[in-house]
Parts: sequence; C-alpha cells; structure tokens
Amino acid sequence: MTRPIRGRFDRAGATYEAAARVQRLVAARLAALCPPVLSGHVLEIGAGSGLFTRELAPRLAPDGIYVALDLSPGMLRNAAMPGAVKLAADGEHPPFLPGTFDFLASASAMHWYADPAGSIAANLRLLRPGGGFAIALYVRGTLGELEEASRATGFGSVYPMRPADYYKTLFTDLTGGLAEFEEKRHVVTYGSVGELLRALKGAGVTHTPGTKAGSPARYRKFVRYYAKRFGGDAGVSATYATLYAWGRRALGGS
Ligand SMILES: C[S@@+](CC[C@H](N)C(=O)[O-])C[C@H]1O[C@@H](n2cnc3c(N)ncnc32)[C@H](O)[C@@H]1O
Repeated sequence: MTRPIRGRFDRAGATYEAAARVQRLVAARLAALCPPVLSGHVLEIGAGSGLFTRELAPRLAPDGIYVALDLSPGMLRNAAMPGAVKLAADGEHPPFLPGTFDFLASASAMHWYADPAGSIAANLRLLRPGGGFAIALYVRGTLGELEEASRATGFGSVYPMRPADYYKTLFTDLTGGLAEFEEKRHVVTYGSVGELLRALKGAGVTHTPGTKAGSPARYRKFVRYYAKRFGGDAGVSATYATLYAWGRRALGGS
C-alpha cells in the first residue's frame, strides 16, 4: 500500500514545489495555528520538500531538535529545510518510542494513511503527556469537480478520501476532547483542465490509481465536461476540502 504512494512522490520530488499551490496555502494556515515558539523535540510527518517545515522549523528554540520524516526519499532529496534532520521512514510505523516528542505536526500528508485510526493513534502516542500537535489533511469533497467529471465521462478517478467527521471523532476520542478543528474549502483556479491535471501529477496526486486513465476520446469528453461545468473567464476551479486539527495529548493519557 505504501509502495505506490512512495513511488508517486519519489517521481514528484523535483516538480512538487512548483505544482503545490493548495499545499502552500494549507502550510501557511497550519503554521498560523502552531505556537510561535517551540521547544524540545519536534516531529513533522510527511515533511516532503519542506514547504511547511520552512514555516515551522525556524520557531524551534536553539537547543531543540526538529525531525522531518517522510516516506519518500525522492521528496527529501529535493527538500530545502534548514534546521531540520531529514528522516526517510513510514509515518504509519514511526521508528520512535512513545513519549519522545513535545510537538507533532503534519501538513497535507496523513490522508494518505492506509490505517488512519491506528496510525494517528500511534503518532499521538509519540507525544509526551501534554505535548501539542497541529495537523492538516484533505477530506471528502476534495477534487469533487474532478470526481463528478470522471463519473460522467469515464475518464480517470479520484483517490478516495474519508469524511471530515471521521477524523474529528478520531481526534476527539484520542485526546479526550482536547482537540480543536477548522474546516476550510480552498478553491484554486487553473488556466485550463490540462494545467490542473499537470499540477496534480506534479504534486504527486495522480488522477487515477491505474496506469491507463482512459481513451483519448474519453479524455476529450472529460476536458469538455470539466471546462463547461467548472470553468469561467479565469480558468477552471478545483476545491480542496481541508481539515485542520490541533490540540494536546491528555496529561496522564495512555
Ligand atoms: C502533498 S505532500 C505534502 C508535503 C509537505 N508537508 C507540504 O506541506 O508541502 C505529502 C507528503 O506525504 C508523504 N507521505 C505519504 N504517506 C506517508 C507516510 N505513510 N509516512 C510518511 N510520509 C508520507 C509523501 O511522501 C509526501 O511527501
């Protein structure tokens, strides 16, 4: 399950930052929800090329340690993240003992987890009791336009996302109610349908799980459908339904 995900991000390593328009907006919003100063040990999961790391790592106190973990060596190889220690590893099986970290962060990554309930629980256990976290991930409704156009024309498909309420219940249960949430629909405009698809590919979000998206005729139908339904003078729009969750691990939590 993790191998195809790692492969798609390895291939996107060099193109990611130019294509990552919504991820940039999400990184900025998540950074605004994080403390202005961080101390001790900080773990970022799914750090990628460092878009969010460059917002957060400078806030670390001089004697702190910032670990930027990512599944994809290709993303880390292209990453610019001064002040962070890069670690290629799977966030679903992190190589750390419980209670190791004072703060946990993750931007635009955990929706890729195969087992979010088990893995996010394991991630929060890496925090010391009272340790803080801030996480942004995409939820159902993301690329809804693309999903509709795919369904109508038979071209491509959208990676299945879980509903926001699934994660809200999870974080609430895991923290004993010490989590807060914000849901935001970021709408990004692209010059054309082709530009949107190129941006998705460049950011590691391939629009179909298979190798063949569809015939050229279906592709043309898809482009016409998308442009007519979701296009305007400025181009075509794509929605990213984002959930921001932040809070603390309970004191004395197991
Ligand atoms: C869309 S990028 C986000 C990168 C960065 N956080 C940002 O805000 O631009 C998603 C990243 O999550 C990583 N990722 C996906 N599944 C992961 C996992 N199980 N463990 C660690 N990283 C993972 C990918 O390799 C990729 O670099």
